[in-house]
Amino acid sequence: MVVNSKGGCGKTTLTTNLASYYAAHGHTTVLMDHDPQGSSTRWLSQRPVERPRIHGIAAYQMRPDMTRSFQMKLPPDTTRVIIDVPSGLNDLKLAEHARQADTILVPVLPSPIDIHASAHFIQALLLAARVRSKNIRLAVVANRVREHTEVFHKLERFLATLKLPFVAKFRDTQNYIRAAQDGIGIFEMTGAAAQRDREQWSSLTAWLDRNEAPGREVVFLGDHRAGHSLRETG
Ligand SMILES: Nc1ncnc2c1ncn2[C@@H]1O[C@H](COP(=O)(O)OP(=O)(O)OP(=O)(O)O)[C@@H](O)[C@H]1O
Ligand SMILES: [Mg+2]
Repeated sequence: MVVNSKGGCGKTTLTTNLASYYAAHGHTTVLMDHDPQGSSTRWLSQRPVERPRIHGIAAYQMRPDMTRSFQMKLPPDTTRVIIDVPSGLNDLKLAEHARQADTILVPVLPSPIDIHASAHFIQALLLAARVRSKNIRLAVVANRVREHTEVFHKLERFLATLKLPFVAKFRDTQNYIRAAQDGIGIFEMTGAAAQRDREQWSSLTAWLDRNEAPGREVVFLGDHRAGHSLRETG
């Protein structure tokens, strides 16, 4: 599940790229869109037919003539469900969504306003969704990063105070915008232009793959860059 109450931080970008990554790696992948803006669903509608299929569920747009459970039904061989959650949810809704997740990713932009808003959001998420006691893995991804800026270091310090893993950072690049237009992900772009972005993604996908959560056994991992891990067990 990809979530942050702050708008425009990269939730849909993260969701669509993750969905295409898993689909391209042979997973039966579902992209579940809870955001009434329908951005992930629109991305999926642009996806070329020759690309690995992603099963879309527009959860924000349930048809009244069919039951909700039928419309939310996953293909039987589903191995990955990536959920795009809208901005600005109240705690109750947030908790409801979080209950369905075994891993939560929070994209954060390195701007003072976003860091401030995200700090509040993450604290609310920890409380409302009881992430720690439910053994849900939570990690933060820095998006649209310009390294060596003071604001980026602020983001690093903020995450360190929450003892949250900071699993990846993505640079600000038109590649994401191009991929979004074409219904593909950064891993499906050919050529050298997106090579650096694919490398940046590999730390996130490695974290996700390394810590797959059967039975949700791992709650938190410490900052992987520091080569240590902090485990908490509910
Ligand atoms: N790393 C990046 N580099 C360049 N542009 C980016 C990057 N990440 C996201 N964007 C662009 O920023 C805009 C907002 O990103 P996105 O739609 O993923 O955010 P969001 O959190 O889903 O927004 P909302 O809260 O409206 O749902 C989009 O136009 C997207 O293409
Ligand atoms: Mg979005």
